[in-house]
Amino acid sequence: MVGGGRIPITREITEILDIPVIGRGRINDPILAEKVVADGSVDLVGLARAIIADPDFPRKMQEGRRGDIRKCIGCDVGCADRLFAQRKIRCAVNFDYGREDEAWAGLMSTKDPKDIAVIGGGPAGMESARGLAYRGHNVTLYEKSDSLGGLVLTASAIPYLNTRDLRNALPWQKQELDRAGVTVIMNKEISPEDVETMNVDAVILATDSEPAYPAIPGVQLPNVVHVYDYINKQGALGKKVVVIGGAEGAEAAVSIAREGHAVTVIEENLEAGAADYIYPIRRSELQEYLGDEKVEVLLNTSAVRMEDDGVAVTDSQGDEKTIEADTVVIAYARKSNGNALVEALRKKGIPNYSIGDCNELLWCQSRDILPTKTKLSGSVEVKLLVINGRVK
Ligand SMILES: Cc1cc2nc3c(=O)[nH]c(=O)nc-3n(C[C@H](O)[C@H](O)[C@H](O)COP(=O)(O)OP(=O)(O)OC[C@H]3O[C@@H](n4cnc5c(N)ncnc54)[C@H](O)[C@@H]3O)c2cc1C
Ligand SMILES: Cc1cc2nc3c(=O)[nH]c(=O)nc-3n(C[C@H](O)[C@H](O)[C@H](O)COP(=O)(O)O)c2cc1C
Ligand code: SF4
Repeated sequence: MVGGGRIPITREITEILDIPVIGRGRINDPILAEKVVADGSVDLVGLARAIIADPDFPRKMQEGRRGDIRKCIGCDVGCADRLFAQRKIRCAVNFDYGREDEAWAGLMSTKDPKDIAVIGGGPAGMESARGLAYRGHNVTLYEKSDSLGGLVLTASAIPYLNTRDLRNALPWQKQELDRAGVTVIMNKEISPEDVETMNVDAVILATDSEPAYPAIPGVQLPNVVHVYDYINKQGALGKKVVVIGGAEGAEAAVSIAREGHAVTVIEENLEAGAADYIYPIRRSELQEYLGDEKVEVLLNTSAVRMEDDGVAVTDSQGDEKTIEADTVVIAYARKSNGNALVEALRKKGIPNYSIGDCNELLWCQSRDILPTKTKLSGSVEVKLLVINGRVK
């Protein structure tokens, strides 16, 4: 369901009733909220998750501060997922939510401000930089590319599947960096050599993960591309496409099929779409889309060899067959990058903490939800708010 997806149905009800009608369903954008009232689709807007993500959503609208609203990313993992599991509700983008009865009293000012470098401007780096700066630390964030947002920029850009709500987190995060007084240095890749001249009290490593490839013959063939290449529209796909990896690859498979390709998904496990970040409701919706788009899903099946015109696979019985393919898309799970910077920081004696995908692939909406309060060792005491990860 995309933003306001149920509003057309609600409009039909509004039109026949002469009592006020409240419409709801993923209205997580103030412009959309205004539009559905203005065009007569609903009389009132009901917000549930949008309020969990930012309890001041309506107040900020009233005060003309639309840009200050922290928008819900529609993940469900912190709220609905935990609700059904009868767990305390949390929110992927609002650490404070649901902690009223806990010792957590929000970000506290530090009595001992430190110089801290955050390396990596993805969601994990931005959130930790924000939290640290609000506490009063002097924070510099380094990002090697020319944009903040990291892999979310790719994850939210699947061509024919709407995952754009994921990107909702980014404008607020960027704005808060500025407001919190973080110095942001773009287009600067921090190398082990840079570490030698670094003069800071602590470093937060929030660098990225690496794409993983299956260790099988033929992965270097020219008809083999990575799912990032597909999402980022680098190169054309052939008529018959095999996607290897039905967890992170299922969303791309739907999108590729919607573009008119014949798609087969190879998945070693027993379910497609079972990436950690694809919550059960979203997962069953995705599985329906795979069916609707006539994607052939081969479960319990492993790719054993890439060939010029296909992929050799074995099923659970060990029987081998070849699936024809003009293009093979690799959507294997990513791997944490191990981080060459850790050794350099250790040598230099700078306390360092790896968070987010470079440490463990926990996703923005990790089960136990993100923000972690912790003490950094030594004299640097901070409470970290970390989207997408724990602090080691
Ligand atoms: C197809 C796809 C769909 C996904 N869908 C979802 C989803 O629905 N929900 C979800 O929660 N997650 C999803 N994810 C995963 C999500 O994108 C990542 O978990 C998240 O982006 C990790 O955040 P991060 O900040 O740890 O790392 P990244 O987002 O990888 O950011 C790391 C940043 O560090 C920078 N960097 C790296 N090295 C250096 C250096 N030496 N110096 C300076 N900068 C550096 C990089 O340029 C990058 O900007 C998806 C991923 C993929 C591939
Ligand atoms: C944590 C949580 C609890 C909810 N509890 C109820 C409930 O008790 N009764 C109900 O009718 N709807 C409940 N809902 C559904 C919401 O009222 C709302 O219809 C739905 O979340 C879609 O709107 P939204 O996109 O603004 O979240 C709940 C939703 C969430 C996320
Ligand atoms: S957990 Fe996700 S879906 Fe639920 S309110 Fe927070 S951002 Fe929105």
